This record gives sequence, structure tokens and C-alpha cells, in this order.
Amino acid sequence: MKSKSQFVCQQCGAGYAKWMGQCSSCGAWNSLVEQVVQSESEKKSALSKGQASGKKLNYVKIATIVPSDAKARLATEFNDLNTVLGGGILMGSVCLLAGQPGMGKSTLLMQICATVAAGGHDVLYVSGEESAGQVKLRAVRLGAESERLSFAASTSANDIAKTIETGEFDLVIVDSIQTLMMDEISSAPGTVSQVTNCGNLIIRAAKSTDTAVVIVGHVTKDGTLAGPKVLEHLVDVVLNFEGDRYGGFKTLRAVKNRFGSTNEVAIFEMGEKGLSEVVNPSAALLAERTNTDGSIILATLEGNRPILVEIQALCTQSNFGYPKRTASGFDINRLNLLIAVLERRTKLRLSDKDIFINVVGGMKLNDSAADLAICMAIASAVAGRKLSDEYVVFGEVGLGGEIRSAFRADQRIAEAKKLGFSHAIGPATIHDKFVIPVKDLRNTLIKYVK
Ligand code: TYD
Ligand code: MG
Repeated sequence: MKSKSQFVCQQCGAGYAKWMGQCSSCGAWNSLVEQVVQSESEKKSALSKGQASGKKLNYVKIATIVPSDAKARLATEFNDLNTVLGGGILMGSVCLLAGQPGMGKSTLLMQICATVAAGGHDVLYVSGEESAGQVKLRAVRLGAESERLSFAASTSANDIAKTIETGEFDLVIVDSIQTLMMDEISSAPGTVSQVTNCGNLIIRAAKSTDTAVVIVGHVTKDGTLAGPKVLEHLVDVVLNFEGDRYGGFKTLRAVKNRFGSTNEVAIFEMGEKGLSEVVNPSAALLAERTNTDGSIILATLEGNRPILVEIQALCTQSNFGYPKRTASGFDINRLNLLIAVLERRTKLRLSDKDIFINVVGGMKLNDSAADLAICMAIASAVAGRKLSDEYVVFGEVGLGGEIRSAFRADQRIAEAKKLGFSHAIGPATIHDKFVIPVKDLRNTLIKYVK
């Protein structure tokens, strides 16, 4: 039988009969790779008969099913991480830990292994990236050595699945999916077919023996899972580990969780002895602040957690015709929009200014209520005037220059009170004595930035 080949996009998994420069499904360039497809003639013959080839489903009354939540959860030493996971790592669940290389994924997992093993569970750490010696060094550094913690170096998904199927371990770490391969598939490790098939194999093994499995996945710089995104659909939990690779805070959040909320977030810091949770991120973020022009404290939210973070703006005269706008930790398109609003709705002239925005501490803002703080920081930097350091700021800015409401205002207010601020400048829709209500951008800037 002649084997057919297909061109499969390594980003989204779409298949094509012919090679193309760009995947018409996801728009990625140069991502199609030729792959052999197995013969479908048997499947086709079943189809042509018009009959289903399966057997009757084995259904049960929903009232009699034991909820998977009733299963044991493996608690980690990190309280916030446990909350992110919905109470710990659920037995039989498969979790994908995604993050850029060097973010601290292996470190975090080694620390988790140590606690789970110390709690009387058998844990296996499989690495396809590092040798036993390297992992041992890290384990010693982290104080993670334990009777019940085992290590294996392997890149064979078949071997790993077989080991999981023995049921000897309660928790298995697979570091990382990009290094795994199945001999049956000829394509290189990290390609769609390798990742999907290896992932499926491991997931099936985990489910059949109720073993908790955490798979590491590296992501590229733009934040997508390197190569295949396909794995996200297969696993129960997807954890994203992001932030500053060199110092600064790292946030861990669940972008998908079949057993808990996706609103929680854990904040970590890398130290001498591995990662530790930051208990009071606002205080840490504000510790080195000096109140200069262009500096505004924003009351924002990371998931469900209120955090006070400093927004810094710097404005300089443009040397070339086209002004430069850069943002670190804030969406550049949103910044350009806010600059347009500032120009049109207030009397600020920004067309000949380079504008740089920095969110201190490596935080990445994903909060529409950050608008007002960004605008005030820019205005403050341009005018060389300050906002009183008694104030925090939050609120969305509309295209008309109007200040719009922010969600979870009470949490933002509570956090600001806790850190000793006297007032918040915020949308007029909030009725709280702590909030100085503001309605439009122009008057807010005139009144408070001085
Ligand atoms: P690592 O966990 O190997 O990252 P990943 O698995 O996500 O690629 O390590 C991340 C960085 O952390 C690495 O550059 C070394 C550093 N590190 C510390 O600063 N302290 C420590 O205790 C450890 C174990 C690592
Ligand atoms: Mg690693």
C-alpha cells in the first residue's frame, strides 16, 4: 500500500495536501511539515457500509458516580499554589506546566516533589533534559532529597507510560514534553505528532492508574506553547508560569483547570534556596519607590488578588520625526490608544515626545482599570508634576476621555487601605469615602497632577 503524506502546521495542527508558506488556519509562516498519514482504507470500508462499528456505551446513572473531587489531593508546600490548583494536585489528573526556558519550572517541580514525597507519597521525576548528576545537584541545593523521591533520565514516552502504568508512583513529573519521543513516529521530538501522541500515551497511563502527572512544556518568547498548542486540549490543568526570568516576580496562574477556578494566582520569587511565595507583593513592589514625576501607584488585580504596583512613565523629546513608544508590562496597542485619547481630550502635546512605560517588578498588567494610572503617569512625566503619594489610582479610560468603572473596586480599596494610603482616585460610580470620584480625564489631570 502506498503511504500518503500530508503537510501539518506545527503551530495549530491543521493539515494540508500541498505545502504552503503560510498556514491559512492560524497564519503562522513556514510552519508546515510533511508527515506520513497512515492508511485509512479500513476506516473507509466501515464508513461505506453506513453502520457504526462501535459497541453500546457503558453508561451509569449520574447520581452513582463518585465525583473526582472526592479523590485525594497532593498538597504542595505553597499555599497559593494549592489554591491555584483548587486544593492541591488531584490524583489521576494531568497538569501541564508551561513557561519560558529558565523561568524556574524544574526548580518549582523539584520543590513540589520534595513536599509530596515528605508527605509519604512515592514520587518519580523523569527528565529528558538533564542528567542524574545535574538533578541531584539541584535537589541537594533545594534540600529536596527524600527516601520516596526517585529519578530517571528518559526521553521515551513508551517507557515513561509503562512506568506510570505500574502504579508504583503517586506523582510523576515529566520534564519536558518537547524532549519526548515515540519510536513509532519518525518526526523529530517537539513536533505536533510527537507531542500529541506522547501526551496521549502518558495521559492514558495516568488515568488508568490514578497517578497524578505534571508535564513541563516550554513556551516561546511570545508566550505560546513552543511548537504545538495541541496539548492544552488534552490535559486537565494548564498552569502558566510567567514573569521576569532574571529577578522580579513570577506569576503562576491556571489558564485552564477542570477541578478549580482560573482566577487565582500565586506569586513567586527566585532565591538562593529555590522559589518562595511572595506573601505581601504590594509591600515588596512599593519598597523601593521614590515619588518622582511620572510615577503613579495603580491598584490592580492579578487574578483574584489585589496588588498595588508602581507605573512609571518617562517622556523625552523625539529626535526623529516619528515618536517612539515603548511599554514593558503593558499592551503597546492600548498605550497608543491612551496617548491618542490624551492628545485629543486634554491639552497635552505628545506627538513630538518619546514615551516609555514601565510596570515595576516585572508585572504584566492585564487589567482595563490600569488606563487611568497610565494616563496620569504620562501626564505627570510630560508636565514634570507629581501626584501626592497618599493616592492610589484605578479606572478605565474611554475614548471620550471619560473615566469608567472598574470591577472589584472593594478589593482594590482594601489593599490600598492596608498599605496605608489615604485615598484612591477612581471612577465616580464607586460610592466609598475612600475614593475621590473622577469623571473625566482632563479635569482629573488638572486637579490632581501638580
Ligand atoms: P530552572 O528551574 O532550571 O528553569 P526551567 O526548568 O524553567 O528552564 O531554573 C531557572 C533558573 O533559576 C536558573 O537559571 C537557575 C536559577 N536558580 C536559582 O536562582 N536558585 C535556585 O535555587 C535554583 C535551583 C535555580
Ligand atoms: Mg528545566
